[in-house]
Amino acid sequence: MPVTPLDDHQWAITTPASTYVIAVEIDPLTGEATPRQKYWGPRLPAEAARQVAASGARRHVSSFSTPAEVEELLPVDGGTRWSTPSLQVAFGHVRSLEPSFAGASVHDEGGGAQRLDLLLVDAYHPFEIVLSVRVRDDTDVIERWTTVRHRSDAEVTVTRLDSGNWFVPDAASYRYSGVFGAWAEELQLQRGPLPVGELVFTSRQGVTSHTANPWVMIDDGAATEEHGEVWGVALAWSGSWRLTTTHRPEGGVCVSGGFGHDGLRWTLAPGEELVSPAALGLYSAGGFGAASRSWHEYARRHVLPTAREERPVLYNSWEATTFAVTEAHQLELAKIAAGLGVELFVIDDGWFGGRDDDTTSLGDWWPHRERFPDGLRRLLDGIRDTGMRVGLWVEPECVSRDSDLYRAHPDWALHMTHRRRDEKRGQLVLNFARDDVRDWAFGRLDRLVTELDLDYLKWDMNRPFTQAGWPEREAEQDRVWIEHTRNVYRVMDLLRERHPRLRIESCSGGGGRIDFGIMRRTDEVWPSDNTDARDRQTVQHGFSQLYPAGTMSAWVTDSPNPTTRRAMPLRYRFHVAMAGVLGIGGNLPEWTSGELAEAAELIAQYKEIRPVVQHGRQYRLAGTPGQERSAVQYVLDDRVVVLVYNPLGNAKRGPRHLRLTGLDPDALYEMTGDGSRWHGSVLMSAGIRPAAWEPIGADHRSELVVFRKVRTSVAEPVP
Ligand code: DGJ
Repeated sequence: MPVTPLDDHQWAITTPASTYVIAVEIDPLTGEATPRQKYWGPRLPAEAARQVAASGARRHVSSFSTPAEVEELLPVDGGTRWSTPSLQVAFGHVRSLEPSFAGASVHDEGGGAQRLDLLLVDAYHPFEIVLSVRVRDDTDVIERWTTVRHRSDAEVTVTRLDSGNWFVPDAASYRYSGVFGAWAEELQLQRGPLPVGELVFTSRQGVTSHTANPWVMIDDGAATEEHGEVWGVALAWSGSWRLTTTHRPEGGVCVSGGFGHDGLRWTLAPGEELVSPAALGLYSAGGFGAASRSWHEYARRHVLPTAREERPVLYNSWEATTFAVTEAHQLELAKIAAGLGVELFVIDDGWFGGRDDDTTSLGDWWPHRERFPDGLRRLLDGIRDTGMRVGLWVEPECVSRDSDLYRAHPDWALHMTHRRRDEKRGQLVLNFARDDVRDWAFGRLDRLVTELDLDYLKWDMNRPFTQAGWPEREAEQDRVWIEHTRNVYRVMDLLRERHPRLRIESCSGGGGRIDFGIMRRTDEVWPSDNTDARDRQTVQHGFSQLYPAGTMSAWVTDSPNPTTRRAMPLRYRFHVAMAGVLGIGGNLPEWTSGELAEAAELIAQYKEIRPVVQHGRQYRLAGTPGQERSAVQYVLDDRVVVLVYNPLGNAKRGPRHLRLTGLDPDALYEMTGDGSRWHGSVLMSAGIRPAAWEPIGADHRSELVVFRKVRTSVAEPVP
């Protein structure tokens, strides 16, 4: 039983490798209920869980502070609390909550999942708060969210609704890990001591953002890739968000996270409810590597719609043509791409309206009248004739002022009374929170997919919200920040429902919308517009902390790279992209016949290793990717794939031997190619000596090493 009631106020939540204990404590003087986390760590037997549940408050209280706030499941604004509230509600002008406990229920959700709901009601107003906790029998990730329901006549305004607060058990010191960045430099991993105070990672952009990704991991400063305890919290949401990590001066750390950013106000009409997205908590005892593998497995089992599929090798025309999409050139690219073994051809920006540059036509989702006077069908048929599937780029949430859509519906763009409409990249954001905009977007996309029989949409979003108003909704304008994202989800969900064969890629000017919310309805994501393989290694390293390689689109583009002007061998560029979902994005007619032949060979190799990379357990081996010798390993059943990199060939310092991990020490592994056989224990303790790691050689050497387990025990006879 994943949820075990210990009594009517205490529950043990058990995952395969962890236990999370909750108790609702009632103040004997005031009657106020405080749901508290009593434990989150290695799995405990029921008796031990009972003991921790019964343990008393350990933190001292002074006249000036209540340090035990950190342990609350949802510290509200009210009573003797002064930290960042996870829930802040005002009744009329009175901003305060005094929750009392109204009961708990455990629900069997099927498929090995159970849900615990704790119901709290304000002591005066009939205002309900439900704290939900979902646990599954095949993952250590615990899902939590909050529902608030307004049942009174008072005017209710919610200014903060977090999905949950997670207490990180006491340690002598703390360190945070997260990924941060900017356009073309997304997902840069940062680790550092957790300062006393409040550390806020947030997006105020209406999308997940390039600036920070919605997760944080905390350890005591000693965890390594393969050892040590790590606590992680991630948010499954693709709009604005905030994760606040509080490190109290008296000790004690917690992470509270939810949708929306500071300053937003959501009014609730009587009878209305507001449900937060899920915040996900993971305890892992095996270092950052094991934590990542648990997140990946969770994503594959419970988030991704098509995790079991193999993602095709795609070609995308953006870097080759930018907006200059023509039938002849796309067909030329398609023929070469198909000859290389590419399986899906995606026509990027420039095929619609009068889209000759980024100042025009977003919203006019019909074939470019001058370039495709007879429509796109002939081009798409031509591509299909090469044996590839076909996809199109779209950016449904934005509109150009110079578009028929904007001319017809200027009120559909986000705007505020008496305020400018600021453009970014020459475009405005549509108010997707509106039902008519949502229905229009679904109608257009549904028609496109149906009429052109599309296999794939690359769904882009190239600017943050500004002047995010909705004048007709008056006091409810800030609903835009929630409903926009929900309607993006709805349109994607509906499209998938109507077109079960359709696959969707999430892109937001590179990696601006990567999170477990969007991943629930997309098949792959585009991590960065920077396709320089060295820079990409850093991005991929950050990506891999939470998200599995089978969702990470990675293209091989031209050399020198169009963004960084850095030249790199084709093989290195391929080996970097082969660590995810391989794609090609170069201007193929300019590749030499030698490059095309090598590319075809590498694509064929990728198809061999693809199941292992896309579905296997991932191990980050060795040094800092992109900067020194590094390697990444994947294991699936009896197959092992290792991609080895050395960007700086003359670097004399650094390891020569590469120790593999996650293998069966007693088994025998055969290296593909030379047929040499290795004990698992040798591969893990002595390691292999990759040629690419030998010092004094060219920059950017790389290697693909593949093993297959041939015997489960070295004592068995050789087959
Ligand atoms: C931004 C994306 O990240 C690129 O890949 C490309 O699709 C452009 N938008 C097109 O405008």
